[in-house]
Order: sequence, then structure tokens, then C-alpha cells
Amino acid sequence: MEAKRAQESYTEMNELVLPNDTNTFGNLMGGRLLYWMDICSAMAAQKHCKNVVVTASVDNVSFKRSIRLGEVVTIQAQVTRAFNTSVEVRMEIFAQNLPLGIKEKSNEAYYTFVAIDENSRPIPVPQVQPETELECKLHNEALQRRQMRLILAGKLKPENAVELKSLVELFDHKG
Ligand SMILES: CC(C)(COP(=O)(O)OP(=O)(O)OC[C@H]1O[C@@H](n2cnc3c(N)ncnc32)[C@H](O)[C@@H]1OP(=O)(O)O)[C@@H](O)C(=O)NCCC(=O)NCCS
Repeated sequence: MEAKRAQESYTEMNELVLPNDTNTFGNLMGGRLLYWMDICSAMAAQKHCKNVVVTASVDNVSFKRSIRLGEVVTIQAQVTRAFNTSVEVRMEIFAQNLPLGIKEKSNEAYYTFVAIDENSRPIPVPQVQPETELECKLHNEALQRRQMRLILAGKLKPENAVELKSLVELFDHKG
């Protein structure tokens, strides 16, 4: 299967925060943001895989800045790396106040998707060809993130996470 350029999967989604999306403080509810992120990253994954995908995991998401009623949420998603049947998608989330012309980064997150066939069985996906410096960095680091999430999911023994171990050893050495 031919590798595909990382940028081919780029997907952007904009949502205006309406009253029904907010809590009683007038801030966007975290669950609604996670829902929009799931949709946007699934579209990026489907673009790359040219196949339907299911969400396999959502990495820890922290909310650094609250998003207010009336602001526009912009979600930018792109596949960082493909493995066998799964892909990792990175997202950057921005909040925009259009009248004031202010755009601030709200958070960043990684979701993992698995391409499946008509019987819901995982199927192989094309590899990713990173091009820019950032794409290459994210592509390299994706291996460690994958090992971390598979350990947390109980699907990988820590002693078999070779790349992750070498990263921890590097930090130990520096410390
Ligand atoms: C995701 C799913 C297809 C994985 O199926 P599975 O039988 O566990 O298959 P495998 O163990 O062979 O794993 C298949 C791929 O999923 C990946 N995977 C499984 N669990 C994962 C997790 N928690 N985090 C990241 N990747 C995961 C595996 O690493 C593997 O990827 P690879 O082929 O690129 O190495 C299956 O668990 C599923 O259908 N889950 C429900 C998905 C869903 O309904 N999502 C909607 C939100 S609830």
C-alpha cells in the first residue's frame, strides 16, 4: 500500500458556541468539545485510510482555557503516523472571538482510530509520509505515545515498550 503525505489528511472544523453548548457559567462544556474533536479527527483518519474508522482511544485532554458562549471553536486535525491497522491523529484547538479579532490556542490532543471492514475487523492502513520538520518530529514521537497508551490499555507489557524505555532512560540520565 502506497504511503500518503501527512498533509493530505488535514481537516479543519469550525463551530460557533451556542447556549445549548454551554454550562451555567456560559463556558463550552468539555464533553461537547470532545464530541466535536472526535468528529473532526475521525474525518482526518478517514481521509488518510480511505475507509471507515472507529475511535480506539482518546489520550488525556486538558482544558487550558475556557471557551466562552459566542466564540468560535476551530479544530485542526492531521494524521501523524499510521501503524498496522491504526492511525494517530493530532489536534490543535483554538478559540476565536471574531468581533475582537482574538484567536487563542485552547488545547491539543491525540486520538487513535482503527480502520475496519464490513465485519468490524481491523484492516491495514497506508503509512504516513511526513514532510515538514514538525511532521517528522510528531511521526517519530508517535511510537512512544502509542506504547504509553497500549500499556495503559493493558495491551502491552511495559518491558516490551523499547522506545518508551529509552526515552525514560534519557530523562533519568539528564536528571
Ligand atoms: C478498536 C477495536 C477495533 C480494536 O479491536 P481489537 O480486537 O482490540 O483489535 P486488535 O487488538 O487487533 O487491535 C487493532 C488495532 O487497534 C489498536 N488498539 C487497540 N486498542 C487500543 C487502544 N486502547 N489505544 C490505541 N490503539 C489501540 C491496536 O494497537 C491495533 O493497532 P495496529 O494494528 O495499528 O497495531 C475494537 O476494540 C473496537 O471496535 N472498539 C470499539 C470502537 C468504538 O465503538 N468506538 C466508538 C467509541 S466507544
